[in-house]
Amino acid sequence: MKILVVGSGGREHALVKKISESKRVDKIYCLPGNAGISKLAECENISVMDFEGIAGYALEKKVDMVVIGPDDPLVAGLADFLWDKGIRSFGPKKKAAILEGSKAFSKELMKKYNIPTADYETFENPEEAVEYLEKNRTFPIVLKADGLALGKGVLICNDLSEAKEGVKEIMLDKKFGDAGNKLVIEEFMTGREVSVLSFVDGKTIKPMASAQDHKRAGDGDTGLNTGGMGTFSPSPFYTDEIDRYCKEYIFEPTVEAMAKEGREFKGIIFFGLMLTEAGPKVLEYNARFGDPEAQVVLPRMNNDIVDVMEACIDGNLDKITLDFKDEACVCVVLASKGYPLSYEKGFEIKGLENFDDREGYYCFHAGSKEKDGKIVTNGGRVLGITALGQDLKKARENAYKATEWVNFENKYCRKDIGKAIDDIYR
Ligand code: AMP
Ligand code: GLY
Repeated sequence: MKILVVGSGGREHALVKKISESKRVDKIYCLPGNAGISKLAECENISVMDFEGIAGYALEKKVDMVVIGPDDPLVAGLADFLWDKGIRSFGPKKKAAILEGSKAFSKELMKKYNIPTADYETFENPEEAVEYLEKNRTFPIVLKADGLALGKGVLICNDLSEAKEGVKEIMLDKKFGDAGNKLVIEEFMTGREVSVLSFVDGKTIKPMASAQDHKRAGDGDTGLNTGGMGTFSPSPFYTDEIDRYCKEYIFEPTVEAMAKEGREFKGIIFFGLMLTEAGPKVLEYNARFGDPEAQVVLPRMNNDIVDVMEACIDGNLDKITLDFKDEACVCVVLASKGYPLSYEKGFEIKGLENFDDREGYYCFHAGSKEKDGKIVTNGGRVLGITALGQDLKKARENAYKATEWVNFENKYCRKDIGKAIDDIYR
């Protein structure tokens, strides 16, 4: 088979790597890809939002399947566009990707189908939002822009004045653009966060191994929210009992609800969960692999991913048994100093060859490109240094050791990825 992957981040590098291990695949393409991906796939500088360009390329190369990585093209309907041209594609159609594309939609769905999540109200008018905040004086409270906002459209407000300022930023100043046309105000929850990515074929859902992300830029969960500074898998807090509960009350009901709404979901549903005192609740849904969750989940997966993706498309997922290694996996993101605000790009990345033929170690590129025969930094998140290990502690040690193998100017990483694991090893 020939497979085309759409995207250019660490998630897509992890996907391309996993697809390259499939015995059914002999050629991989990636649009636009990056300097790491180009070692495994033929890349071409076509944007993930250039639907005509992607379709034209897929037809020209006669690819057998397109795998869509990022949220923006999914929410904007790339899967529909490709299918309409007869191109087989992995990823939900627009009607289903709304699960991620609109928080107002997903909250309403959860309310209608009794799927546990934080209490909330939705507003289209900023005055009404402020009135509600003034009456409902429980803080902290959470404000969410309805639409896609690069994972940054969530504000946790500690008092009324912060919350009013938040309403202004989202709804009036339009800090996140049209994503702020509607606002969800939701109850603040506390607990451990867990990410569960799952394959879905419209009816059947098969969850992958759990993971945990670290969204804040600084150690000890301080600083600004980012796309994710590191992950580990499995989450030791996600027990078998919690897993059973989630399957029965969250995962399966979500897939059923989407089908009942005439929005059959085929692809990946990523459940962002909070393990609260009152049980697991949904923080958010995503309609794609997480980044950098994919980087720790896919190296643990034993299945041929192409078989599983095809089963999702064809509605045969019930015939597949997902299988994951017992080994744990940790990913530490090497970022450019200053991320997520402003940072410099274009510094040479040295030491990449140290990852050649090192089994159990992966250097996933998130923001890199080739320039004058050298590989240089090209983003806020640059590399996802990933390692397997016999348990989380060992995987963490291995990953941090490997962060020393590569260097570039302004290299920055959190030092406490997976530190929470220590709590249970004590
Ligand atoms: P989201 O993009 O919806 O996952 O939100 C980003 C982050 O904000 C989450 O990973 C949580 O850490 C936090 N968050 C979102 N919603 C809530 C909530 N209702 N209560 C507490 N924290 C939240
Ligand atoms: N790591 C969080 C996300 O992919 O949205």
